[in-house]
Amino acid sequence: MTHTASLKIDDKEYPLPVIVGTEGEKAVDTRTLRATAGYVAYDQGYGNTGSCESKVTFLNGDDGILRHRGYPIEQLANHSDFVETSYLVIYGELPTAAQRKEFGLRLRQNAVVETQMQKILEGFPTSASPMAMLSAMVAALPAYHPQLANNNFEKDLKVFDQAAAVAISKIRTMVAMIYRYQKGLPFMFPKQELPFCDNFLHMMFSEPYKDYVSVPEVTKALNLFLLLHADHEQNCSTSTVRMVASSSSNLFTSISAGISALAGPLHGGANAAVMHMLQSIHDEGDDGSRFIAAAKSGSKSNRLMGFGHAVYRNFDPRAKIIGQACGTLLSKLGIDDPLLNIAQHLEQAALKDDYFISRKLYPNVDFYSGIIMRAIGIPVNMFTTMFAIGRAPGYIANWHEVASNPKGRIYRPRQIYVGPVLRPYVPIDQRG
Ligand code: SDX
Repeated sequence: MTHTASLKIDDKEYPLPVIVGTEGEKAVDTRTLRATAGYVAYDQGYGNTGSCESKVTFLNGDDGILRHRGYPIEQLANHSDFVETSYLVIYGELPTAAQRKEFGLRLRQNAVVETQMQKILEGFPTSASPMAMLSAMVAALPAYHPQLANNNFEKDLKVFDQAAAVAISKIRTMVAMIYRYQKGLPFMFPKQELPFCDNFLHMMFSEPYKDYVSVPEVTKALNLFLLLHADHEQNCSTSTVRMVASSSSNLFTSISAGISALAGPLHGGANAAVMHMLQSIHDEGDDGSRFIAAAKSGSKSNRLMGFGHAVYRNFDPRAKIIGQACGTLLSKLGIDDPLLNIAQHLEQAALKDDYFISRKLYPNVDFYSGIIMRAIGIPVNMFTTMFAIGRAPGYIANWHEVASNPKGRIYRPRQIYVGPVLRPYVPIDQRG
């Protein structure tokens, strides 16, 4: 069935094309509205605006559905790992054994971050935001890999596979370097023989004469955490990557911008904010009711962090998976984390509270993810950089869609001007 749309303005009708996606999502194509009717569409924050057609991720916020290239997140969480899911998100298909081997090798071969880049960190006080340091280091990648960053789609697409591997592998290494820098510890070089997550844990926690001993449950939990963050449709930071990419910027520059957007407490910064919230509740001996009462005040600064979502009006499927994984990991490690109990109590209390029910506010991916990272030994101020490692494949896949779109154009939204109307210049000696 073909859908048609028509906009009636005053006594004139303007027919508009309708676009229907493979999952039945429908959009009114308003691209011609300015030329035919002299109107732009207005949607502050783009909450109900499709900025692109994409094949990477499908979200159904009402039913809590998340699929990458058609594969349900629940099945990927149960059967896949971060590297395989990264391949799927980037290349569109699950890899064959040979493709998986080649991709994994490319990641291992690109794990080392140039020693001179350590000086970028030294330009920051150790108290600096790890996301600022990460964004700065990623922004420097074109200087070290100019052959992968031509700011020319035709050239950059020819070297995409290598650039993608550099981005995924080095962002992981950079996060470990930032951690070591902040702790005043010597950097640990990656070990090419180690798988992706084990290599990260080695670079984070090995000591000069005592290698980190891999714990299978920890590696599994880290893989799951990163896999669940791999992509998430047109979220704030991924849209930023596409915006910057649309000016024909290279992959690294575009990702660096995305990392800066991710840092915000309403977005990727929420996982750390959740832990600060849970810790405050614990330290004050509160049962969470004070936080819930404050969260219902409506002010953005009192929100129940880790709750609500711009798209989901149901459970974030990732929150359910991570919530279950928390219990498993903690029990296997013999950790009794009071913050997990507080989180579970908070979730139960909020889900019974009409304020949250009426606004369809449910736990999102950030509500439990901090518990897992705390159990792994990641400090709270590094949580959002972990999100960035996980989201790298999503940024890469979206950059590729922009770069390879033959009909693509620079992203340039319009606005409705509400400032002063025409007025003549007044010399300073005549101003009031
Ligand atoms: C991520 O977009 C993505 O896909 C992001 C992400 C990804 O993978 O990339 O999923 C990752 O960013 C998850 C979200 C992490 N952020 C938080 O947990 C911060 C707390 N959550 C909120 O700030 C909020 O829910 C947002 C930012 C996530 C969504 O904001 P919206 O869609 O703009 O919601 P809104 O501000 O329009 O709120 C609607 C109502 C308001 O009340 P009323 O004005 O109708 O009375 O719900 C209230 C809000 O005050 N509300 C909350 C709340 N979230 C929304 N009230 C209390 N606590 C909250 N957490």
